[in-house]
Amino acid sequence: MKKKLSTRRTFVKKTTIGAAGVALTTSGMSSVFAGVFQDSEKLALLGGIPVRPKGSTLEANWPIYDESDIQMYLDAYKSNWSEHSLDPEEFGQQFQKKYAELMGVNYCVITNAGTNSLEAAQRALDIGPGDEVITQTNTYVATAQSTFNLFALPVLVDSDPETFMINPDLIEEHITPNTKAILPVHIGGAAADMDKIMAIAKKHNLAVIEDVCQAHMGEWRNKKLGTIGDLGCFSFQQFKSLAAGEGGAVIGDDENLMTRIGGYVNNGRDPQQMGRTFPGTNFRPSAFQAANALSQVRRLEDQSTLRDENASHLEKLLSEIKGVRPTKKYAGQTRRAYYSYQLIYEKEHFKGLPKAKFREAMNAEGIDFGKGIDSNLHTDPFVETYLNLRSIKKVYSKERLEKYRNEIHCPVNEHIGKETGLSLGQRVFLGTKKDMEDIVTAIVKIQKNASKLL
Ligand SMILES: Cc1ncc(COP(=O)(O)O)c(C=O)c1O
Repeated sequence: MKKKLSTRRTFVKKTTIGAAGVALTTSGMSSVFAGVFQDSEKLALLGGIPVRPKGSTLEANWPIYDESDIQMYLDAYKSNWSEHSLDPEEFGQQFQKKYAELMGVNYCVITNAGTNSLEAAQRALDIGPGDEVITQTNTYVATAQSTFNLFALPVLVDSDPETFMINPDLIEEHITPNTKAILPVHIGGAAADMDKIMAIAKKHNLAVIEDVCQAHMGEWRNKKLGTIGDLGCFSFQQFKSLAAGEGGAVIGDDENLMTRIGGYVNNGRDPQQMGRTFPGTNFRPSAFQAANALSQVRRLEDQSTLRDENASHLEKLLSEIKGVRPTKKYAGQTRRAYYSYQLIYEKEHFKGLPKAKFREAMNAEGIDFGKGIDSNLHTDPFVETYLNLRSIKKVYSKERLEKYRNEIHCPVNEHIGKETGLSLGQRVFLGTKKDMEDIVTAIVKIQKNASKLL
């Protein structure tokens, strides 16, 4: 025991980088190297013992459920399975009431997917052929698909290198007479700069649809994300912080818009009278999806608080080392969500070690960093797939489509993807403080040994 302790101290001392040593020695790393001291300094990628034991993962099991969730599902099974009447007992109706209250808005319409929530929101604003919607390259493909599917053009804006969000200072240059809306994505769970976005929208008389699919419970100036613009769109897909298997919702305060959304998702039925007075499709969730959403929403605040606490511990530790730091927050962000927590890698603090190699080394230590961005949509083949559709070519001239192709440049987002972006999924933050310490321990270990990987 004595021998182990002294070896551990030696390791901590050796891996100390400036103030990091203080953070690491005082942060209770005691069990990190249990039984592995002799090899603790050797990188796992080079055959050493990993910081996290092989086979262990930082990610909590997901989704989280217990007997009460199963019971809710069984209750749905024993119901009449309907999700499209006015019965307030329907699981979807119950969820809508609860989620609207939680979000602090007047209305919520439950749907069967985040993608379809986005489509319904744009439909309600009558966005269609010839229109343009300003969104970002750093998002899941569904954001842009939902616009293309209405035969409108999603205009993909580059990212802010410090926040990885849509760069608000690039929005205005993309506005044309065809622009109808701005669709910022709170990508990863951090907030887009809603003050600037709302000011631009007001100046140019544009609607704002927030894509909140990755940012449940995040806040801007103490209001829930999704409630700042005209409409907020959520996903409850299996990996999301509120998971129903599949599912989604649109929230908002505007009665007229929300009635149109309620009508659209239910084959055009007026949500109050059920007369078929709206354009429509079927984006209804099943009773089973709605029951899952209703059950899981009970856990949302507690899980979000746990993520807040773990992330704040991680940030404290990271503030004492150099080379990996959280992305900057805009001043209005009062609460972050953690679907994907983004960090910035600075290779100059790792003797020039490329990000890809750093991620590989972290992975070998048992810590799986994501690449920081969701996507570089502007380089994704899906764009050409749409631009070559017969229907799209019928709506837009050859010149317009060529202009579209030539105008999308997003070098900053490409740079983030290649050089600086790192991320950790929401499940990592449902663990323990020790998990956070392991992350920093592994970073410091790689930093100290970076030259051996070059
Ligand atoms: C940013 C973003 N927008 C839209 C979606 C689409 O949601 P869904 O998968 O529920 O259709 C997702 C989900 O993956 C997302 O992450």
